[in-house]
Amino acid sequence: MRAERINKKAWDRVYREDGNVFRERPQEGMPQAVRLFEKNGVKRVLDLGCGTGRHLVYLAKHHFDVYGIDIAEHGVKLSQEWLRAEGLRAELKVGDIYKKLPYADDFFGAIISVRTLHHGKIGWIRGLVAEMVRVLEPGGFIFITVKRHVPLKYVPKDRRFDIRYIAPRTYVILGGRERGLPHYRFNEDLLRRTFKDFQVLKLWTDRMNHFCLLGRLRKESPP
Ligand SMILES: C[S@@+](CC[C@H](N)C(=O)[O-])C[C@H]1O[C@@H](n2cnc3c(N)ncnc32)[C@H](O)[C@@H]1O
Repeated sequence: MRAERINKKAWDRVYREDGNVFRERPQEGMPQAVRLFEKNGVKRVLDLGCGTGRHLVYLAKHHFDVYGIDIAEHGVKLSQEWLRAEGLRAELKVGDIYKKLPYADDFFGAIISVRTLHHGKIGWIRGLVAEMVRVLEPGGFIFITVKRHVPLKYVPKDRRFDIRYIAPRTYVILGGRERGLPHYRFNEDLLRRTFKDFQVLKLWTDRMNHFCLLGRLRKESPP
């Protein structure tokens, strides 16, 4: 099944049923990433899977030129409303991040993506990473977080749902808020291999049990 079909339906339902979810403060490590971007003179920042906009607002408040893309139309609408209410702006698109990204080569100084990239099969994720390399300028930065697999016995009982494998290391949850959503099971080695084009500046696990990777693109500047 195409990513667009699985994710669009499931995420639109999340935002229509639950409204402004993920509206808590920015992701752990985001202030550090932003300081790094500022120190290195980054201008344009892209948020892949921007959701309801908590990082768009945060980045716009730090005076970056902010771009966001998300497959859930309703999420993008909520982001737009929040930015407007704050008197801020960002270039937003509704789109599938596992397709060719709708931006020019070398366009961004940094890309962030929080709790999003693991919602696909590994082939889609690798294609997306190649696109990130294309749209990032040489030496550009990334700050991404992906879910770390937790054995079922450590998941609280009220959040234990059946899962169905749809591809190697990739399952769909069959209940709860995330029902119908694909999850790829990263481990540290697979994450490092997937982002082999990036120098890893920092890699850690946050309080929500997500890997957080701050990295810098090794792409050469054109002669
Ligand atoms: C857990 S939410 C995180 C939202 C936001 N990054 C945050 O931290 O508040 C994951 C987001 O990824 C988006 N998403 C999932 N698959 C996508 C895809 N194929 N293309 C674009 N966005 C996608 C969802 O619509 C959702 O808004």
